Amino acid sequence: MGAPRGASPFGREDGVSVLFPKWLNAIPTIGAAASVGGLATVVLGTWYWATPDFFEVGYMPIQPELGFSHQIHAGKLGLDCRYCHTHVEESPEANIPNVATCFGCHAETRLRAWETQQVSWIREAYANDESIEWRRIHKLPDYVRNFPHHVHINAGVSCFSCHGQIIGMPVVYQTQSLAMGWCLDCHRDPGGRLVPPDKVTDLIWVEQDWMSEPVDQRVHEGVTAQDLLASLRQAPPQNCGACHH
Ligand code: HEC
Ligand code: HEC
Ligand code: HEC
Ligand code: HEC
Ligand code: HEC
Repeated sequence: MGAPRGASPFGREDGVSVLFPKWLNAIPTIGAAASVGGLATVVLGTWYWATPDFFEVGYMPIQPELGFSHQIHAGKLGLDCRYCHTHVEESPEANIPNVATCFGCHAETRLRAWETQQVSWIREAYANDESIEWRRIHKLPDYVRNFPHHVHINAGVSCFSCHGQIIGMPVVYQTQSLAMGWCLDCHRDPGGRLVPPDKVTDLIWVEQDWMSEPVDQRVHEGVTAQDLLASLRQAPPQNCGACHH
């Protein structure tokens, strides 16, 4: 396979993105785009061609349509992840929403004047019955068996543990290595990563009110981290066959 893990100059194994440091999220989207736009174009271009391993921390492909922001939709507008990723709780696959979901809010009649130009591609795609070919960011190799989203969500593993602070991302990028050792780290000792099931998609709360507390001091409506661990359906698997054919 490609370069050794962690060799990317753009990301680190500990989940901290060097290219897109956390403070960047705090800057309003427009300002950030203006100041790093030029640099990002050069760096992303080089990165795309020079990086043989796609499963890297920091991976952020350039999307076919620009401007869709989780920071706006899941942050400012406060939409729950499941409004768009409707199947995460029931299916192994987390679906990407189709154009109709976007059109529900971005139909012409529902827009303010200045937005008309910015999202005309949504209305065109909807009118022509086309789908938007979003480029995949998180992808496991084919020899890893169907990764089960629903099992993790229902066990109280937050999107935050595997995808980072999506609510702060104008553009989604990969924050975790998704390497085998990373899966197993949690499978061996999941206690510190479980959150109350009704909070799995409340990523700000998970990061700031739950994960920031020492494990033995976490309590939410009388439920402790120890309770969550004790109520797991089963211990997470470590046998090869659970994840490989
Ligand atoms: C308004 C709809 C909408 C909402 C709400 C939403 N998403 Fe998304 N999400 C999308 C779309 C569209 C894409 C594909 C484009 C992109 O990657 O930005 C996507 C992509 C993603 C990806 C990257 C998928 C890949 O290719 O690997 C992740 C991870 C993700 N969303 C997680 C979340 C989480 C976590 C939340 C809740 C905090 C959330 N999303 C809320 C629409 C939404
Ligand atoms: C629940 C309603 C709702 C849904 C669903 C929704 N949007 Fe939006 N979207 C908005 C609103 C409201 C804004 C303006 C937000 C603001 O800037 O305050 C917006 C802004 C945008 C912008 C432009 C932001 C800018 O200022 O440049 C884009 C692009 C966009 N949405 C794309 C999408 C796509 C793609 C989808 C489907 C995956 C989608 N939206 C789903 C309500 C929605
Ligand atoms: C235990 C880790 C984990 C958790 C928890 C998790 N994901 Fe994922 N997610 C992954 C992995 C791994 C992939 C790549 C899966 C693959 O390639 O089969 C992925 C892929 C995705 C994709 C891309 C799917 C596609 O077909 O393009 C979306 C969207 C997504 N996740 C959203 C979410 C949302 C929303 C949540 C929380 C409700 C969530 N994930 C929770 C690990 C996780
Ligand atoms: C942050 C913690 C965490 C991470 C990271 C994680 N898992 Fe899990 N996983 C769990 C927990 C907890 C369970 C047990 C859920 C249960 O059975 O209630 C589980 C269960 C599973 C199962 C068993 C499903 C079943 O039907 O019994 C598989 C397969 C699995 N994980 C695969 C993966 C793979 C592959 C990765 C890495 C790409 C991964 N997990 C990363 C916490 C995690
Ligand atoms: C919890 C899920 C899980 C379990 C259990 C697991 N693997 Fe993996 N394995 C993965 C994932 C995910 C990858 C892909 C890593 C990547 O993206 O490079 C992987 C990759 C591999 C690779 C490819 C080389 C590499 O490290 O990238 C081999 C060989 C492998 N696993 C063998 C095993 C063997 C043997 C066992 C049992 C002792 C096992 N795996 C147990 C999830 C798992």
